[in-house]
Amino acid sequence: MSLTKHEKQALIDLANTARQRAYAPYSHYSVGAALRTKTGRLFTGVNVENAAYPQTMCAERVAIFKAVSEGEKEFEVITIVTDNGGSPCGGCRQVMAEFGLDTIILLADGNGKLVKQTTVGELLPEAFTPEQLGKQVSK
Ligand code: THU
Repeated sequence: MSLTKHEKQALIDLANTARQRAYAPYSHYSVGAALRTKTGRLFTGVNVENAAYPQTMCAERVAIFKAVSEGEKEFEVITIVTDNGGSPCGGCRQVMAEFGLDTIILLADGNGKLVKQTTVGELLPEAFTPEQLGKQVSK
């Protein structure tokens, strides 16, 4: 599966627009995510912070949980936009790994510039996955 330049930019723009809705009054680090499922559906997410700091939820996980809650578990690409093109946190990498190591990850900065293309497997080598529980998880 390969994405055209135009498809990548459309996903980056979608995530960057979503980013404007980030709720980040404590860190002021707004994050926007946009994922496309293998069925072609689009889901966005933003980070949602909380006065009780640990209750904060990352943008990627919001997008993934929205998709799963709508019956989608196979993701082609997840795009993450931050001011500086930052990389997803370890917790988000683990959540992404649950749904497939081959998912493409696009990281972009606040100007909408793609800074890195990678995969979940590259971001989380030797990942702990459902298969290791000896369970066949239906996706
Ligand atoms: N954040 C994300 O939304 N995704 C990540 O992968 C890294 C961190 C958020 C959490 C918090 O609201 C802010 O960025 C600073 O850590």
